[in-house]
Amino acid sequence: MDTIILAHNYQRPEVQDRADYTGDSLRLCQIARDVECKDIVFCGVDFMAETAAILNPEKRVFMPDPLSQCPMAHQVTSEDIIQAKSLYPDAAVVAYVNTMAAVKAVSDTICTSANAVSIVSHLDTDTILFTPDRNLGSYVRRFTDKEIVIVPEGGNCPTHHQLVAEDVLLMKERHPLAKVAVHPECRPEVIDLADYVGGTEGILNYVKNSDYQEFIIGTENGMLYKIRNQCAGKIVHALSTYTVCPNMKMTTVERLERVLREKPGENVVAVDPDVARKAKKAIDAMFELMK
Ligand code: 13P
Ligand code: SF4
Repeated sequence: MDTIILAHNYQRPEVQDRADYTGDSLRLCQIARDVECKDIVFCGVDFMAETAAILNPEKRVFMPDPLSQCPMAHQVTSEDIIQAKSLYPDAAVVAYVNTMAAVKAVSDTICTSANAVSIVSHLDTDTILFTPDRNLGSYVRRFTDKEIVIVPEGGNCPTHHQLVAEDVLLMKERHPLAKVAVHPECRPEVIDLADYVGGTEGILNYVKNSDYQEFIIGTENGMLYKIRNQCAGKIVHALSTYTVCPNMKMTTVERLERVLREKPGENVVAVDPDVARKAKKAIDAMFELMK
């Protein structure tokens, strides 16, 4: 195929409908790595398109809106990591995929929400420098004896971090039969009240495979479209109507159509080749640790 359209699960419904593949960060990374095509149009946010570009130096990767940035991915710099490494010289650095290439380039490996616990557990150092999401980092901490140092201390996803325990308690009161599924980017107090915690693909599979009929979903609300599409008959409620990632919604079908039609040079994702080569090592290390 000449051009493949990839869309994250949080994209607008009409953009998801136009895509060749939809999925979570991990699945989209794997498709970007394996797919045979000339060009990729990535409907998501900057770090996702950048990761696809790093994995495919010979393909062009376009973003329908190059200004769709994940704010969390900009909460840490490579200098922050280099400084933390000088304080913990024996630690391994695990960068959440929601980081920019320069940070991945100074990390030992990366992880996604789907494999963070497993990647950290497979590393043989006792101390892990985890960046940048403090909620995902503290969720991983629950499953390991390793010392997890979060860099920077306050990193978070504004969309998930705004959810609080009261939101869950209110929705449970309104829908007493519903099971609660949340993303690990949520606060620990929200995770404590959930029946299931996982990345977007994990949440989808939980709803699909569960014998229960009704669910409260604590992640970006684009996910509800995907769940409703694939889980006919199940009732799903958003944990909050405010859980919208404005950056994910910057990709409109009109912008997607324009990029497909014109392939404008300014929409091509460019990564410095030296940074890309180093970042690719960290991404490949994740794929190795997953084997
Ligand atoms: P997933 O990897 O679970 O799809 O999450 C990506 C993301 O940006 C969560 O906010
Ligand atoms: Fe980034 Fe949060 Fe948006 Fe995901 S939902 S892309 S982590 S701001």
